[in-house]
Amino acid sequence: MSGKLEGKVIIVTGGSTGIGYAAARRCVAEGAAVLIADINEAAGSQAAAELSANGGRAHFLLTDVTSAAAVEASVKTAVSRYGRLDGAFNNAGIDGGFTNTVKMTEEAFDRTIAVNLKGVWLCMKYQIEQFLAQGSGGAIVNTASVAGLVGTRGGVAYCASKHGVVGMTKCAALDFSKKKIRVNAVCPGIIKTPMLEHMAELTGTSLETYAAQEPVGRLGEPREIGDTVAFLLSEDASFITGVALPVDGGWTAL
Ligand code: NAI
Repeated sequence: MSGKLEGKVIIVTGGSTGIGYAAARRCVAEGAAVLIADINEAAGSQAAAELSANGGRAHFLLTDVTSAAAVEASVKTAVSRYGRLDGAFNNAGIDGGFTNTVKMTEEAFDRTIAVNLKGVWLCMKYQIEQFLAQGSGGAIVNTASVAGLVGTRGGVAYCASKHGVVGMTKCAALDFSKKKIRVNAVCPGIIKTPMLEHMAELTGTSLETYAAQEPVGRLGEPREIGDTVAFLLSEDASFITGVALPVDGGWTAL
């Protein structure tokens, strides 16, 4: 039986670990060739090696999403290696150091916006340019967050960046809706990844406390976001564009 992404070529930014890796794994399992674009070279190379075992197609490219040249190179590499580009999961992100509006430093604010917001825009810019050149459409999923839909204490930079991702997703979806190009966002709740462990350390909050904040009473697994991403990238989601989909265990229903 063929997978729902059979023959597709997909870029996953931030695919070395966490949510991005889980999405890359599901995309490969569904038959896609995946280019992992990330600044974490050691974990990214290992991730690509793991996904390439048993006949999967995956490749790692050292990529900083804040650099236009690096993002353009990621699209060129996907095309030169696999022949075309059909989709992307623009997921690279940082927590930016949660602290209140007064204590937030200008440097941390600028870095958060550069990675989480400008990085996603640069990715869409070069990916959609490639889709248009091919003329056969494409699908993009951007990682926002529940912090892209509501405010959180200490999230002045992070929430700004993620609300921005939701806005950009809607704009790009409308810009290219007549070109068979779909653009959506996922808004994860609290997911057990290296980023969450960093946040827990930073704020002195235990993982149990985070889990208790979820209506379902547990943390989300990276796989649960990865599975949603594979669905949104596939033809099963052919009439879905411009949405910011919470995958959050009921967090935004509260
Ligand atoms: P993670 O830290 O495991 O993954 C983030 C990945 O992005 C890492 O592989 C990292 O090397 C990469 N990255 C960071 N800066 C980069 C840059 N400039 N260029 C290229 N790659 C870069 O954390 P996680 O949780 O998997 O995060 C993935 C996305 O999910 C992020 O956008 C995050 O904001 C978002 N998110 C995470 C939630 C959580 O509870 N873990 C909740 C909601 C959203």
